[in-house]
Amino acid sequence: MKKILVTGGTGYIGSHTLVDLLEQGYNVISADNYSRSDARMLQGIETITGKKVKNYATDLCSLTDTRKIFEENPDLSGIIHFAAYKAVGESVEQPLLYFENNIQSLLNLLHCVQEYKVPYFVFSSSCTVYGEPESIPVTEETPLRPAASPYGLTKQIGEQLLQDFVKATDCSALLLRYFNPAGAHPSAQIGELPIGKPQNLVPAITQSALGVIDALTVHGTDYPTRDGSCVRDYIHVCDLARAHTQALQLLEKENKTHACEAINLGSGTGVTVLEAIRAFEKASGRTLEWTAGPRRPGDVMAIYANNEKATSRLGWRAAYDVEAIMATAWAWEQRYRNGETVLSR
Ligand code: WQD
Repeated sequence: MKKILVTGGTGYIGSHTLVDLLEQGYNVISADNYSRSDARMLQGIETITGKKVKNYATDLCSLTDTRKIFEENPDLSGIIHFAAYKAVGESVEQPLLYFENNIQSLLNLLHCVQEYKVPYFVFSSSCTVYGEPESIPVTEETPLRPAASPYGLTKQIGEQLLQDFVKATDCSALLLRYFNPAGAHPSAQIGELPIGKPQNLVPAITQSALGVIDALTVHGTDYPTRDGSCVRDYIHVCDLARAHTQALQLLEKENKTHACEAINLGSGTGVTVLEAIRAFEKASGRTLEWTAGPRRPGDVMAIYANNEKATSRLGWRAAYDVEAIMATAWAWEQRYRNGETVLSR
C-alpha cells in the first residue's frame, strides 16, 4: 500500500489531514518534533480513526536525522509538508528563526526526495504570498506582491524552490495556498491548540467567549470595507484536509514529472471580522463582548479566494460555511476546556 509522509502531523492542519488520509485508505507516517504541537494529538487521531500513526520526533533542520526517516521508509510514494512556523507577528520579531526553520527543513526534505526518488510533494503554502492584492477575489494567476512578513516570504521562497526542484528531478508538486484555516473535527476530539494567547481570530473568539482570555479586541474598524473591519476567507480545517488527499490523488492519477502548480484553497466567500463574530453568536447562542482596537501591523485589508481551480483540478468543494466553522470551533473549545478530550490538560 502507498505510504505517505506527513510532516507536522501533530499540528492543527496536519492532524486533520492524517485523519482524512487514513479514512481514505492511505498508509501514513508523521514527522513532528512537537516544537509547536502536542504529542497527544496522535491519541486524538487514534480515537477518531482507530488507527495508530507512527511519528518520528525528528528535527527536520538536521539533514542527518531527516535522512533516517527515509532510510527506514524507502518506499514513500508521497510527502505532504506542513511542518513550519506560521505566526506572522513572531516572524517579524524573529526573521532568522523563520528563515532557518522553514527553509532549512524544506531543503533537507528535498535532498531526501531526490535521493530516494519520492515522486509526489504537496507543499503547504499560503494566501500570504499574494500580499495586499490589487483585486479580489484572487486567482492563482494574481501577481504575487512583496510578502507582508518574513513568514509570507518563506512561503514565497518555498514555492520558488519547488518550481526549480521539479525541473531538475522526476518529482511533481502541488502548492496549496491556504486562506484562513479554522474550525475543528466534528467529533471535537481534535482541533486548533494555539500556544499562548491566540493570534488568530477564531480561537481568540472561542477562548474569549469562555473567559480563557480577556474580551476580544477587533483590530481595526476603520477600514474602507462594508463594515470597517477586515475581510478574510475562512475555510474549515476538514475541507482543507480533504483537499490534501485529493491533491495526492491528482498527482498519482496524472503521474507527471517536472510539474508544479499552485491551487488556492479558500471557501470563495469574503467575511468581515464583525460578520465572523455574528456567525459565532448565531452558532453558539451567546453574545460576544468585544472592543474596537487599532489596526494590526501586517494585516491586509481584504482578501478572499477564487477557488474555481480547486474544483476543476481536484474536484474539491467546501462543505462547511462560516457558521459551521464557528459551531465546530466552539464545540472543540468547550470539550477541551471541560477536560473531555485526550488532549485536555
Ligand atoms: C484575521 C482577521 C485580524 C485576532 C492567517 C494566518 C496566516 C495565513 C493566513 C496560513 C484580521 C483580525 C484577529 C484578534 C482580530 N494562514 N483579528 N482580533 O492574519 O489573516 O492570517 O491566515 O498560512 O498564517 O495567521 O488571520 O486570524 O490572525 O486574523 O480582530 O484577536 O481577524 O486583524 O483582520 P490572518 P488572523
